[in-house]
Amino acid sequence: MASTLTGAPQRVRVELGERSYDIIIGTGLLARAAELFKPLKLGKRGVIVTDSNVGPLYDAALQQALRAGGIETEILDVPAGEPSKSLRQANRLLEHLPSLGLDRRSFVVALGGGVVGDLAGFIAATYLRGITFVQVPTTLLALVDSSVGGKVGVNLPQGKNLVGSFYQPRLVLADVDTLKSLPERELRSGFAEVIKYGAVRDAKFFAWLEREYQRVLRREPDAVAHAVRCCCEIKADIVSKDEHESGLRAILNFGHTVGHAMEALVDYEGLLHGEAISMGMCFASKLSVKLAGLSEAESKRLCALLEASGLSTRPTEKFDMNRLLEAMRLDKKARNGKLRFVLLKRLGEAVVSEAVTDADIEEVFNVCCR
Ligand code: NAD
Ligand code: GLY
Repeated sequence: MASTLTGAPQRVRVELGERSYDIIIGTGLLARAAELFKPLKLGKRGVIVTDSNVGPLYDAALQQALRAGGIETEILDVPAGEPSKSLRQANRLLEHLPSLGLDRRSFVVALGGGVVGDLAGFIAATYLRGITFVQVPTTLLALVDSSVGGKVGVNLPQGKNLVGSFYQPRLVLADVDTLKSLPERELRSGFAEVIKYGAVRDAKFFAWLEREYQRVLRREPDAVAHAVRCCCEIKADIVSKDEHESGLRAILNFGHTVGHAMEALVDYEGLLHGEAISMGMCFASKLSVKLAGLSEAESKRLCALLEASGLSTRPTEKFDMNRLLEAMRLDKKARNGKLRFVLLKRLGEAVVSEAVTDADIEEVFNVCCR
């Protein structure tokens, strides 16, 4: 598979009829925002929602680029971190909007990671029953996953993502230059999601990652742009076929049954999403060997790539199996207490299964994770 060249931006189309949109991937895109936004025929006023880490790095550049194109924006920021994905912050931002003279042609830009994207998208979806939404993702996770596909929302004290909607952006501006400032640990965590795409849908991309992962982790722009493009192509294809997750889209939850349970058990503290998903994917691959025909060799390749990328593949002793099972049953992906696992038949092909028993989980947990 040839690497993406960084000269001209790449475009990936998310085909959703009249709500179709482009993901533009490349370098130096923030400075070209006015030109790239132009086909959207936006109004002359909008807001940029960002967080306290990303704002000081990039909001002025984005605001100035838009101003040069005759578009005025107000910057609204929230404290960095998951707690900002809340009704409290949404309410604070929404109550500020009427004073800014926005109208139905105004727009919301999310400049940041998945927290900002989900929160800003929720605001765009609800203010005036929906105004234009543009995603400018700045974490690897947001570039390859959360900015694409239209899941927006906030958390409740009772659980993550319990309030929200599907609301597609009109454009995703994926400027890989923004990754230069991303903390190393966040980069590696996002890389778990990159590996996930290869594992569930594209064996050639998985093999490319095995060869080139170090270049991506070193943030070489052509390698990063190529990885982001491959992931976005896979996600765009899946979302076009199953926008509301009635079937196929669920394969993107590979590693998430165990991963989400681990995150919940530590109260989302000290464990990043991709770190939990890495352990979850390895666990699911061992279940896949037992139940879905995945070869031992391919399961080992997956775990080896995760490990080589600096990610954990085994739940540590703080995760007791019974508490994990309990947390998995409480997850919103479980149906009537029945666990749903995404399993691999082979690298590049996934299936959703409700046939995994507690005994299967216990066996994999005891044999493979200790
Ligand atoms: P995040 O948004 O909290 O960003 C991680 C950290 O990196 C934050 O401290 C942020 O301020 C900082 N940061 C972001 N970009 C930076 C940059 N370029 N330079 C320096 N620092 C930067 O976390 P995330 O991992 O991007 O997103 C996690 C969220 O995404 C979760 O709430 C999860 O539920 C959500 N999510 C949503 C979807 C979806 O489809 N909507 C998919 C996956 C995850
Ligand atoms: N993050 C999985 C999805 O968007 O469906």
